[in-house]
Amino acid sequence: MTFQNLILEHAENGKVGVLTVNRPKSLNALNAETLDELLQALTRVAEQPEVRVLLITGGGDKAFIAGADIAAMQNMSALEARAFSEKGQRVMQAIGALAIPVIALVNGYALGGGCELALSCDWIVATDRAVFGQPEVNLGIPPGFGGTQRLARLVGRARALELVTTGRQIKADEALRIGLVNEVVAAAELMDVGLTMARTIAAKAPIAVRVAKQAVQRGLDLDLANGCVLETSLFAFAFGTDDRKEGMTAFLAKRPPEFNGR
Ligand code: CAA
Repeated sequence: MTFQNLILEHAENGKVGVLTVNRPKSLNALNAETLDELLQALTRVAEQPEVRVLLITGGGDKAFIAGADIAAMQNMSALEARAFSEKGQRVMQAIGALAIPVIALVNGYALGGGCELALSCDWIVATDRAVFGQPEVNLGIPPGFGGTQRLARLVGRARALELVTTGRQIKADEALRIGLVNEVVAAAELMDVGLTMARTIAAKAPIAVRVAKQAVQRGLDLDLANGCVLETSLFAFAFGTDDRKEGMTAFLAKRPPEFNGR
């Protein structure tokens, strides 16, 4: 499958997907065509059981994604803007709905829809040149791809409210301090760090990784007691897998496990 505005590649013998939003002349801004392609690419990844981790990054050396495409939005009616927002929301939900871990590798500006896309990933690794922000208020609009919701859930209500109402852009060190990103690395190391994380995860029991993600993600929408019930169900489910037997047998035999994903 080839795309105009994306590159979908595979690394680590097909176990790691690397999805690059690639419109560097527009700082990878998200227009409707790019959002459509993202949905197609995410569907493709979801249908590839061998892919165990997805890395998402931006093409060029300046931006992860500088937002929704302002030129494409300029003449939209309110109804068209609603459809555009819904399309963007579908993309962000499709990222969140992937059963495998998804890591955003933020290599520059992650503004507006770009920050929202990074927030839709499971966690963010950024370079020391990364800049995050929701500057939509400068354009007369609020965030429209889920930023008001996911930012508040990740960094808290007060910090999210400050960022979405001032449009203030923050650098990687502040993003790390407020818990928006997990790790800040040198630009030249970003892909290596992402691939190392992905390799570590890909070596684990795939079903255990998926249900661990599901327990954390779904559990956050539940109260503690119901979240723990969900965890118990997933724990018991994992006990029925070959990989559970292999993991425990290998530990007791003092040898590395060989997981087959069943
Ligand atoms: N949409 C469309 N084009 C964009 C863009 C965007 N979001 N961001 C940058 N570009 C284009 C610029 O228009 C420029 O194109 P030309 O070369 O054809 O003039 C090119 O990318 C390079 O950008 P700059 O010359 O502006 O680069 P810079 O280094 O001077 O500034 C920047 C970089 C600070 C990121 C600046 O480009 C900028 O502020 N971009 C807009 C950021 C923004 O407001 N994002 C939010 C968009 S709204 C949104 O996302 C809504 C939503 O939630 C759904």
